[in-house]
Amino acid sequence: KRIAVVLAGGVGTRLYPASSPERPKQFLALDGERSLLTRTVERVEGLVDATYVLTRPEYADLVPAHAPDAAVLVEPAGRDTGPALAYAAHEVREREGECVLLNLPSDHHVEGDFAGVAERALGVAAETGKLVTLGVEPTRAATGYGYIKPGTDHGDYFDVAGFFEKPDAGAAERYRYNGFLWNAGIFAWTPDAFLAAARDSELEPLVDGLDAGQPERGFRLVDSVSVDYAVLEDATNAAVVPADFAWDDLGAWDALTRIGERDGNGNVVVGNALALDAENCVVATDEDTHVSVVGCEGITVAAYDDRVLVVPTRDAQRVREVVDRLEE
Ligand code: GDD
Ligand code: MG
Repeated sequence: KRIAVVLAGGVGTRLYPASSPERPKQFLALDGERSLLTRTVERVEGLVDATYVLTRPEYADLVPAHAPDAAVLVEPAGRDTGPALAYAAHEVREREGECVLLNLPSDHHVEGDFAGVAERALGVAAETGKLVTLGVEPTRAATGYGYIKPGTDHGDYFDVAGFFEKPDAGAAERYRYNGFLWNAGIFAWTPDAFLAAARDSELEPLVDGLDAGQPERGFRLVDSVSVDYAVLEDATNAAVVPADFAWDDLGAWDALTRIGERDGNGNVVVGNALALDAENCVVATDEDTHVSVVGCEGITVAAYDDRVLVVPTRDAQRVREVVDRLEE
């Protein structure tokens, strides 16, 4: 059996102020049509026997409107993707029996043969018992992604010789130059394979809690940590299936300059907004506020509710600092 697990419990910090703790990015429809979560669930239709949307308690009620045909899986507490994926592996195995999981984030933009690559990854995971990730050829030295050093070539896949989550700019440039791949964050594995690797990691107390039928207790015993840092960087049995589709993570505002609809001057305008005599700007707002940008280049202006953000688009990753400051 093939089961999709769609991750939908993140907050989407870097898309502030469009995203907020009450309205995280996976539930936003930045193009005014379908939310990122809805698009993700649609992407796996026909590819799997069942889809579970995995989220934290605060967002459980938001899910059904975006994924009416999916089952909702609610982890005991928001602890980032490491604990969440261990919980999902354990829970889905209980409900479905023997199966192979396709775990996917809900903040991606994909164009091309997603299904073909995902099928290959599911096949490799089922046959080899490895932790399989999809790898995308980098098109820039992005610092917001994980990088994979490919090892032995097995035809359909490579072993992972090294995994490096969110490097600084210098390292990212080197990795790209050396033919590393981006970790797409789309993983195929069997519940047994992932839980064994999690048991060998800092997630061990959590896995013990799950085995003992005490998930809440398990979650109390671990810190927030993403699956990349917790499990993949140290895993000895990771594999990568190269993906040849066009791919982007809607992580921060600069993603819109790559995947949004641009006007003749390279501006991306979302909602009730205007870009005049401007170049390569992102102007985004909801229906309540009208925003105009005149004679600017390369900046992002985003206004949602009563919050306004202005940032050079190349520094879009720094929006995280604003949210950190506001939380203090
Ligand atoms: N259920 C649940 N619980 N989901 C979560 C949680 C949580 O606590 N935290 C985050 N998520 C979801 C997000 O909603 C998103 O869909 C997905 O998990 C990935 O989280 P991000 O926060 O977007 O991760 P990232 O983009 O910084 O990094 C990951 O993805 C990159 C590619 O998109 C890493 O895997 C990188 O290595 C990778 O390159
Ligand atoms: Mg992401």
